[in-house]
Amino acid sequence: MEVKNKHVVIKHQFEDAPKESNFEIKTGVFSLSVEPGSDDIIVKNLCISIDPYQINRMKSFSSSHHTISFAEPITPGEAIDGAVIGKVVASGNAKFQKDDLVLGVFTWAEYSLVKEGNIIKKIESSEFSLSYHLGVLGFNGLSAYAGFFELCKPLKGEKVFVSAASGAVGNLVGQYAKLLGCYVVGCAGSQKKVALLKEKLGFDDAFNYKEEKDLNSTLKRYFHDGIDIYFDNVGGEMLNAAIANMKAFGRVAICGVISEYTDDTKRASPNMLNIVYKRINIRGFLAADFLNVFEDFSAKTSDYLRTGKLKVIEDVSSGVESIPSAFVGLFNGDNIGKKIINLAEE
Ligand SMILES: NC(=O)c1ccc[n+]([C@@H]2O[C@H](COP(=O)([O-])OP(=O)(O)OC[C@H]3O[C@@H](n4cnc5c(N)ncnc54)[C@H](OP(=O)(O)O)[C@@H]3O)[C@@H](O)[C@H]2O)c1
Repeated sequence: MEVKNKHVVIKHQFEDAPKESNFEIKTGVFSLSVEPGSDDIIVKNLCISIDPYQINRMKSFSSSHHTISFAEPITPGEAIDGAVIGKVVASGNAKFQKDDLVLGVFTWAEYSLVKEGNIIKKIESSEFSLSYHLGVLGFNGLSAYAGFFELCKPLKGEKVFVSAASGAVGNLVGQYAKLLGCYVVGCAGSQKKVALLKEKLGFDDAFNYKEEKDLNSTLKRYFHDGIDIYFDNVGGEMLNAAIANMKAFGRVAICGVISEYTDDTKRASPNMLNIVYKRINIRGFLAADFLNVFEDFSAKTSDYLRTGKLKVIEDVSSGVESIPSAFVGLFNGDNIGKKIINLAEE
């Protein structure tokens, strides 16, 4: 049987902020049967994760291109791949059966053809909402958990600053830090987000960075004695200001630098003397480096979810047509929490 399959492509590579006009929705004819003798798996996509790192794949050059397979460049006109949850429609692979729920690197489309060697695993537990496996229980959660606990080695009572704090990773970092007993301040791009951080997620304080004229003095206001840990999601001038306000032996986890993804004139240029004399430890990381702690992360996070200690913030749109605007929205601060596209019900 054949069906129509809508999918998203980029029309061309681009180096600056994404626009919806950079994208195109294409419709192809898609077979729901597996070629006899092949290991192929046909998946009906149910929900798609929308992530900022994809923009670096859409550029003609990025240092991310030659690091890991899912950061490779995207070819204009070809289906875009990313983290997706789906249901198996047909399978030539003995490890997967029709109706299995699966998570993997599939396409921004209604249906995906999963070939031998593509990343795919079964979702065995039905305890939580499926979309959690793309966010709080997936790579966003692992980024927050590993970046905070493994890199920053936090202690109870330490002072923690998080940028893009209402986003998919940032909100979890702040919640983990509060659960440990740290003092936590977050920054975000609107009053609505600031209210969410303080009133729903339990941050000690938060501010709207777009309303601040001098970020250096803003951070002094929230951290009189300095910052022990900065979890950086944005880079640029916020990173400069955070470095200027770090305590001696402070730790900075560079998870991402979204303000630099769309404007390379905004690169951070921290005062290196601060880094030397305060003996600050700055380290970039990828969640994929920490698969060794995945089980520990998953068990602890599931427990926090069961006991209601961790709140889940999701921002959901529907349909393949909404993917370009959802992706563009990440760079305008439109999303609150994890951005998900729902395509079909289970
Ligand atoms: N290292 C890893 O393995 C890993 C894994 C996942 C994500 N990341 C990185 O972590 C960061 C957060 O990712 P996420 O998935 O959690 O996205 P997200 O925070 O849910 O969404 C992006 C948010 O970034 C903020 N933002 C956009 N442009 C900005 C700018 N120019 N300056 C300051 N803030 C800006 C916006 O919030 P505001 O309204 O607050 O501006 C927006 O809502 C990104 O840099 C991403 O690339 C890294």
